[in-house]
Amino acid sequence: MDDEMLRADLAAVYPQFGLRLAHAGLVLVPPTDVELFELAAIIGEPGGVVDDGEEHFLTWPTGDADAVDRFLRFHWSLRVRPSAAGWLLPFAVVSGGRAVGVVGLGAPRWPGDRVVDTRAWIARSDQGHGLGRRCRAMLLELAFAHLGATRAVTAASRDNAASRAVSKRLGYRETGEIRAADGVLEVHASLTPAAWRRRRLSDVDVDGADAFLAALAP
Ligand SMILES: CC(C)(COP(=O)(O)OP(=O)(O)OC[C@H]1O[C@@H](n2cnc3c(N)ncnc32)[C@H](O)[C@@H]1OP(=O)(O)O)[C@@H](O)C(=O)NCCC(=O)NCCS
Repeated sequence: MDDEMLRADLAAVYPQFGLRLAHAGLVLVPPTDVELFELAAIIGEPGGVVDDGEEHFLTWPTGDADAVDRFLRFHWSLRVRPSAAGWLLPFAVVSGGRAVGVVGLGAPRWPGDRVVDTRAWIARSDQGHGLGRRCRAMLLELAFAHLGATRAVTAASRDNAASRAVSKRLGYRETGEIRAADGVLEVHASLTPAAWRRRRLSDVDVDGADAFLAALAP
């Protein structure tokens, strides 16, 4: 079975698999097993995502077989029907036909406050070429223009310059620092719809948002 047939079969059960975001050759799609195993190879490679000493940028391990196991189990655990009580959507980052990372859009209290959060990792070899910024902008397009989010928030380790630069460039305002349970000092940031509009990425194609929203209806 090819990836598109697999995706269509998954979308029949899980509406989020009908989502597809595209911008100038960059595509974000919920990962089928085809992408998950490509991504698992990056996760299992030492230094595949973060350099030595930067492990605290992530809240989960990389670089060995246990990390791969945990990565796959986590993503399979997200294959549930979205619910109005809260949801988390992972997207494979597909660039040049290769899955090179994962970005996520979540809403723990939807529809209560309609605040979304984002997360991301890009393979070390593909970092620093603008993918992180474009992917975040694509998620924001889905959140604000199609789902009706009221605010987007994010958090990054204080010394994670790339993640903080992505937020700053897209118009987020840093709101404070919090010491996380693992001891890492995190900088939190927030983006309003008005600030998003000023830095909005044009020409992002979004498919499947209506079916996803319909699935959230009580
Ligand atoms: C954070 C991450 C997703 C950003 O993606 P990316 O593709 O590397 O970032 P981009 O190439 O889009 O760069 C975005 C901005 O960061 C800046 N930047 C990138 N790498 C940087 C670095 N090492 N130090 C300082 N700034 C950096 C870029 O100059 C750019 O800023 P600008 O738009 O003002 O010029 C990616 O680096 C990553 O996966 N890191 C490891 C995992 C991680 O930290 N995830 C986030 C957890 S909060």
